Amino acid sequence: MAKFLVTGGAGFIGSHFCDAALAKGHEVTVFDNFETGQEFFLQGAKKNEKFSLIRGDIREFSEVNKAMSDFKPEWVVHFAANADVRRGLERPRRDLDYNTTGTWNVLESAQKAGAKNFLFSSTGSVYGEPTVFPTPESCPFPEQTSLYGASKLAGEGLIAAYANGFAMNSLVFRFVSILGARYTHGHIFDFMKRLKNDASHLEILGNGKQTKSYLHMTDLMSGLWMAIESQPKGHNVYNIGHDDALIVDQSVGYICDALKIKPRLTYTGGTRGWVGDSPRIQLDCTKLKALGWKTTQSLEQGVRDTVKYLEQQAFLFAEVK
Ligand SMILES: NC(=O)c1ccc[n+]([C@@H]2O[C@H](COP(=O)([O-])OP(=O)(O)OC[C@H]3O[C@@H](n4cnc5c(N)ncnc54)[C@H](O)[C@@H]3O)[C@@H](O)[C@H]2O)c1
Repeated sequence: MAKFLVTGGAGFIGSHFCDAALAKGHEVTVFDNFETGQEFFLQGAKKNEKFSLIRGDIREFSEVNKAMSDFKPEWVVHFAANADVRRGLERPRRDLDYNTTGTWNVLESAQKAGAKNFLFSSTGSVYGEPTVFPTPESCPFPEQTSLYGASKLAGEGLIAAYANGFAMNSLVFRFVSILGARYTHGHIFDFMKRLKNDASHLEILGNGKQTKSYLHMTDLMSGLWMAIESQPKGHNVYNIGHDDALIVDQSVGYICDALKIKPRLTYTGGTRGWVGDSPRIQLDCTKLKALGWKTTQSLEQGVRDTVKYLEQQAFLFAEVK
């Protein structure tokens, strides 16, 4: 059994990771400032005596450093981030502060506390607008198209340098969009929030033809744990996503069908929903599959499970900014 310090452990993905780690018998400390995380996502974890919670901000080196030196984890799992891709240009310092400098704060304090293993949640957005599909980890990097992608790629660079310089073992995962219970941001959340106010009309950003891969939380967790349990050595980068992709219009179709509504659809037009929206994301996950990983949930199931969860937890639409 190992000690895991999980930054962002109160969030959508982090809270599932904590539940899985505790179910496997590990000791878990969450470090989170609850900016987008939810206390009630940790309800189950809090009942476990191997769980503890520290409220703190990764932008404050002294706070992360204290948590790290008190707990002395074997694994640091770094999910805390500004995960809002779309509004990057409205607050241009934010991605740098959270995703790059914040990542350095976590890395440096992990290294000082003697943590030997580091997992980082990066993103398929680091490929900008690639020309190779499905996109492998070895794809030549085109220009960055979002501050979010650029700040995550800078974080990846720091992790590679620490892994090589301080003999840490690192797992960098480039996620597609994740679906499932506790989903609090992304296109399904936005669409359902707007449809709650007006079920007769839905405006879609772009032309509705953007094509994206997604992944069910169940399959994300099995991939992360398969890589952790493979006891990785050195610096490792893995794509993680479904082989299938959905066109935005298809996804809207599943959402409306699940909600039993038929809104009039209008489009803002253009091949991108916003500046930095990649018209196509589809990752080649051959490398992770070589560890034995495979997906078990269809994307349609992922969308339907997400809609069902948000219908049951409708108060989240008011809770989450
Ligand atoms: N959800 C996705 O589809 C997706 C896709 C690609 C990558 N990712 C990455 O996965 C990670 C988790 O994403 P998520 O969807 O669970 O997001 P989330 O917003 O639900 O979780 C982020 C967590 O980090 C915490 N946090 C934010 N800023 C912090 C700070 N300064 N100090 C301490 N805690 C802070 C939040 O309170 C929250 O609990 C992020 O790094 C995100 O960039 C997510």
